[in-house]
Amino acid sequence: MLAKTKEELLKELEEYIENHGYDGKGDVLIQVLHKAQELFGYLPADVLELISDRLNVPLSKIYGVVTFYNFFSTRPKGKHQIKVCLGTACYVKGADRILERFLEELKVGLDEPTSDGLFSVHAVRCLGACSMAPVVMVDDKDFYGRLTPDVVPRIISKYRREG
Ligand code: FES
Repeated sequence: MLAKTKEELLKELEEYIENHGYDGKGDVLIQVLHKAQELFGYLPADVLELISDRLNVPLSKIYGVVTFYNFFSTRPKGKHQIKVCLGTACYVKGADRILERFLEELKVGLDEPTSDGLFSVHAVRCLGACSMAPVVMVDDKDFYGRLTPDVVPRIISKYRREG
């Protein structure tokens, strides 16, 4: 199946907004933002402008909501999202070196997608697996614990093979 074009995605978002008539309550705005992020993978500036226009909500209010909730993102993310825990237990066991190694191997900055769009690296707070520190989670499902920087290239290769 071919990926949808941006125009098709925008049309889908407009239909969603029409079917969810805005009633002035914040939760409809959040639902629309969720839908937009599901469609586009993140919240591009022009999409936020469209939402502001269609819901008649000031853009400044929309940015306020988007920055308040950390599950919204205004920047594209990689297909595989690598979350490096920088919580205290992980930090004291060298999580900063793990993070640096991922950024170095992938030649990216924090929260930026790689040029092939395959990966992005994010720093997060405690992932609730402190006994396995330092911990990394990939794609919100795969945990890697007691990591050392030399394991990082192997983790990257595993997902590269998957594409
Ligand atoms: S501090 Fe990293 S999992 Fe708890």
